Amino acid sequence: MGIPQPAFYIFKCEQSSPPGMPKPSCVNENTRDLFQHLGQRLMEKGLIATVQPIRTSCLNRCQLGPVMLVEPGHHMYVELTKEKIDRIIDEHIIGGKVVEEYLIPEDFWDKAISPIEMMKMAGKA
Ligand code: FES
Repeated sequence: MGIPQPAFYIFKCEQSSPPGMPKPSCVNENTRDLFQHLGQRLMEKGLIATVQPIRTSCLNRCQLGPVMLVEPGHHMYVELTKEKIDRIIDEHIIGGKVVEEYLIPEDFWDKAISPIEMMKMAGKA
């Protein structure tokens, strides 16, 4: 048997926009320990070997930050707090039930455009 792949990847935006930038930041003085909280909770629950938290830069939904993306499934959770992260771990990651009320609104997360469709739109295919 080989090394098992992770069941989930959790991409947490760790971008901190400089003051004065038009977009809000996913990391500021009130939210800078969310990634650490996520990692600690996964450790406490014994999940860290199968649920991999990853620090990312901007995921392009800054206006709803702090955000994190759960894969598989393209589930984008927004306006995160420690309490929301705990619930997402318990209900989605462990329980298998997406926490719909914390997901990004559809207006900000419409269906993906396939790469071939995007190339056609750009006149490259
Ligand atoms: S700064 Fe986090 S999504 Fe852009």
